[in-house]
Amino acid sequence: MKDELLELKTRALEELKSVTENPQLEEWRKRYLGRRGHLTLLLKRLPELSKGERPPIGKLANEAKEELSREFQSKLDSLSAREEDESFLDVTLPGRRTPRGHWHPITQTTEQICAIFSRLGFAVVEGPEVELDYYNFEALNMPKDHPARDMQDTFYISDNVVLRTHTSPMQIRVMEKQLPPVSIVAPGKVYRPDSDISHTPMFHQVEGLLVDKGVSFGDLKGTLTTFVHQMFDPDTKLRFRPGFFPFTEPSAEVDIQCVICKGEGCRTCSYTGWLEILGSGMVDPEVFKIVGYDPEDISGFAFGMGVERIAMLKSGVDDIRLFFENDIRFLRQF
Ligand code: DAH
Repeated sequence: MKDELLELKTRALEELKSVTENPQLEEWRKRYLGRRGHLTLLLKRLPELSKGERPPIGKLANEAKEELSREFQSKLDSLSAREEDESFLDVTLPGRRTPRGHWHPITQTTEQICAIFSRLGFAVVEGPEVELDYYNFEALNMPKDHPARDMQDTFYISDNVVLRTHTSPMQIRVMEKQLPPVSIVAPGKVYRPDSDISHTPMFHQVEGLLVDKGVSFGDLKGTLTTFVHQMFDPDTKLRFRPGFFPFTEPSAEVDIQCVICKGEGCRTCSYTGWLEILGSGMVDPEVFKIVGYDPEDISGFAFGMGVERIAMLKSGVDDIRLFFENDIRFLRQF
């Protein structure tokens, strides 16, 4: 019986080697370890043995049973691992989409504004956010004791260094380095100690400057009208209102017909039908003198606009702070 047992074990292990599928494995289990399996039947015959033979053969038979069970289990494991591998590699499954990010709405709006002026021939330039008092105020015709400095609250870094309160210092930086003709737009961050539903301590502006021989207020109106018609509806009405800025003379604030109510009057436009979108004017001769241009020879216009304000009007967002909370549910809508 001992030989029979050893021969059975060898045969079983040999057959197991060639098993490659689960159903085949199950058959193997039934054939050797099942209730009517070869090994089980052999074990049932133990009582036929003499008392002396029974213990060593019994031990051998139990060992064989354990070994076959162990081999069965490890085959089962390796077959199911292979099945998992194969389903992982199933090339017919639809692909998983990788989530794609996009530009922040303020970046998108800045790019749109700059693209329109690019097409009109303006170059895009950038400059420092930590700025000298000289560029932010002094060279823009706002000496230290000038009352116009009150128009803008300021973050001071030191007596002579500020966080720029507007992008207008870029006008000076460009003109200092370059002779006319000049046509640039300068996008960037600006800072003022303000915070409420329509103000954040940091926001974005785009500055514009065009200088050449014979530039007129008509050029200013034409350029800004083209801009508004490309940025908003092509038949949006504009209104140039007299204003004051120390670095432009004359100065004008530009209103557009309310984009929400089309001029009927609503909450957004405080029932006036108009929305202010930018400041502008003819460059003050004093500014030209400061950068060494001859105001008798050339003239120019400048303008500055708030990017958040334009983004809010285009998208109907009514709280500027939403742009900076970076709630992904808000940003995904752009
Ligand atoms: N810098 C002004 C501001 O922040 C906006 C402005 C007004 C810019 C008139 C200009 C301009 O270039 O000509 O309020």
